Amino acid sequence: MSAVEIRSYEGDGGDLAALVQRAWKQNFQGQKWFPLWDQKYFAWRVLDPRLGSRDLCVAAYEGDSLIGCIMAEAAEFQWGDQRVRGSYSSWLSVDQESQSRGVALRLVDELRLRHQQQGLRFSIGCTRIDHQSPARKFWDSLARRRPDEFRFWGPIRLWAHVLNPVRVAAAGLTTWERWGPQLLRLIPRWPTRAKRPSGIRPFRADDTAECLRLLEIQNRTTDFQMRWNSDRLEHQLDHGQFPRTFVSHDGTSLHGFLNYYALTWSGEQDLRVAMIDLLAGDQWWPQRSLLKAAEAQMRDDGVDLVLMMASAAAPASVLLSRGFVPIDAEVELFSLFVDPQLNCPPPKSFHILFT
Ligand SMILES: CC(C)(COP(=O)(O)OP(=O)(O)OC[C@H]1O[C@@H](n2cnc3c(N)ncnc32)[C@H](O)[C@@H]1OP(=O)(O)O)[C@@H](O)C(=O)NCCC(=O)NCCS
Repeated sequence: MSAVEIRSYEGDGGDLAALVQRAWKQNFQGQKWFPLWDQKYFAWRVLDPRLGSRDLCVAAYEGDSLIGCIMAEAAEFQWGDQRVRGSYSSWLSVDQESQSRGVALRLVDELRLRHQQQGLRFSIGCTRIDHQSPARKFWDSLARRRPDEFRFWGPIRLWAHVLNPVRVAAAGLTTWERWGPQLLRLIPRWPTRAKRPSGIRPFRADDTAECLRLLEIQNRTTDFQMRWNSDRLEHQLDHGQFPRTFVSHDGTSLHGFLNYYALTWSGEQDLRVAMIDLLAGDQWWPQRSLLKAAEAQMRDDGVDLVLMMASAAAPASVLLSRGFVPIDAEVELFSLFVDPQLNCPPPKSFHILFT
């Protein structure tokens, strides 16, 4: 068996997606729902050079074979009254044959070192809430090793909207997941197609400044949030056909926008899940129309279930009016690599991306 080397990830995302899917299936298939992150997702979310985070894509190689990874995206955050450079970390995976040999610890140590070298003062991640889950056991063990640099922030919730109750029920792993979508009659008229509302069109690059303005207004209400700039926002809103973005426009000004991406998730059966990352707007009705338009597109694209992280930036009344319900995500946010000089309490309200 050759030695395991920890170094920067070198590929185009294909072997990365294969590794992550393999490791997560080996650990969670048939027990928990989880996304099957694919190459297009990684190309958009972490590997694109425009994000400037390739150095934070840390891999474990045994010979030429990729056997482990952890990745982060550097970002600027507003934390209370402080503006702090940090990152999102996620996708920690080690091939089953290589587990329990300290590979994950070495990956995390290397990522920590790179955070210090780049002046990144913390990272945000999320893990299972269940202390018996292997993922949670790993992070609990890390929290015990570095208690000054690690803080759990508490559970998060999701908004969920079932578009295809038959497929969502078939993917259910528990009695509630199998029967809930049908009993709740969340989509009474499926499979009829939602009518496309007027005043909504796909995002164009020249909408970026207006979208940024709407996001800045929305973020004033939270005590922890990602700080966007034009380049990062344009990347988020437009990267080929992978993320989709709609804007609400009245001919003279922009009143809102909605941004989501779709992935296959693993459950009892695979299903297509759309994750809404951003929904911002200055009025109730345009936001509702955006949801309706996105839903029509999602149905055309075969999406079964829509999710959005519950936060100060998820408009509850708009989501409820379109059939979304709040659910437990069974995951918890945490911060790691926290600079001990950074005197910031865990936030009460936030607006960040779900990774
Ligand atoms: C979680 C995962 C990355 C751990 O990888 P690993 O290389 O086996 O972890 P390590 O060998 O570095 O373990 C480090 C420590 O974590 C703890 N740990 C890791 N996996 C554990 C498990 N299944 N049960 C109990 N403890 C575990 C151990 O305490 C170990 O410390 P020790 O050496 O003092 O015993 C791997 O199991 C995996 O890929 N799981 C699937 C994907 C996943 O869950 N990712 C995390 C998402 S939040």
